[in-house]
Amino acid sequence: MDDASQTEIVLHIGAALRQARHVVVLTGAGISAESGLPTFRNAQTGLWAQYRPEELATPDAFRRNPRLVWEWSMQLADLAARSQPNPAHYALVELEQRVPKFTLITQNVDGLHQRAGSNAVIELHGSSTRVRCFDEGLIVDGWAKTADVPPRCPYCGGLLRPDVVWFGELLAPEKLDAAQAAADACDLLLSIGTSGEVEPAASLPYRALRRGATLAVVNLDVTTRASGSISTIHGLAGQVLPALVRAAWPDPIM
Ligand code: OAD
Repeated sequence: MDDASQTEIVLHIGAALRQARHVVVLTGAGISAESGLPTFRNAQTGLWAQYRPEELATPDAFRRNPRLVWEWSMQLADLAARSQPNPAHYALVELEQRVPKFTLITQNVDGLHQRAGSNAVIELHGSSTRVRCFDEGLIVDGWAKTADVPPRCPYCGGLLRPDVVWFGELLAPEKLDAAQAAADACDLLLSIGTSGEVEPAASLPYRALRRGATLAVVNLDVTTRASGSISTIHGLAGQVLPALVRAAWPDPIM
């Protein structure tokens, strides 16, 4: 697609954003790529190109080798903690302030939307900024500094794990319900930086589309299952998102 038609789509979606009553945004790892965090499915640098998820991101992997899974997870959590939100995260903070109703659903566990200033983010896959007990599920704020790796739950002595959703685990039902209800009710859904390969998140844009919402996809690659009624903007989220917000509201909020 040439630059002129991309500009046309940005203007078209900008106008739709200005008129929308309820905007839903679904984000994936691509929105944090410009903050220096690896995505999952990039052929060279993606986490799942370098590591095997069945050894690092499943309950069985944790039971087999809790130390390996804990150390790998904490390394990623540390990388996320040292990174900074980028212009795409900040554009979504402005979008939240501009539209009457806004729901931000993320598959990311890096906490960057909240650090940018977004409110009430639905973290479908949990957050690497939190830790919970593997046995009882209780979120834990701190633990005794001992030689144990992973550390032990201060309440029951069970092993601690990151509060993220691993392969083979169910999403928190209240989060999934809230995400699906928002997708069903919105008039515009913006999908940003996700390959759309992981369910149930991958179906959210199509739920919105079926209910008559406008669907716009921002991604470096072509990833959509269907075309036609979907507006696709190819580019870096950190450039496209600020452009979309400016197309809708030319004057920045002071
Ligand atoms: P993926 O790695 O599958 O997809 C990231 C997408 O972002 C790709 O389509 C890239 O082309 C695109 N992308 C990369 N850089 C970009 C940029 N700067 N701007 C715009 N797009 C860019 O990541 P997800 O779709 O988030 O699950 O993966 C979904 C889930 O799979 C993750 O939440 C994780 C993983 O297994 C769990 O951990 C449960």
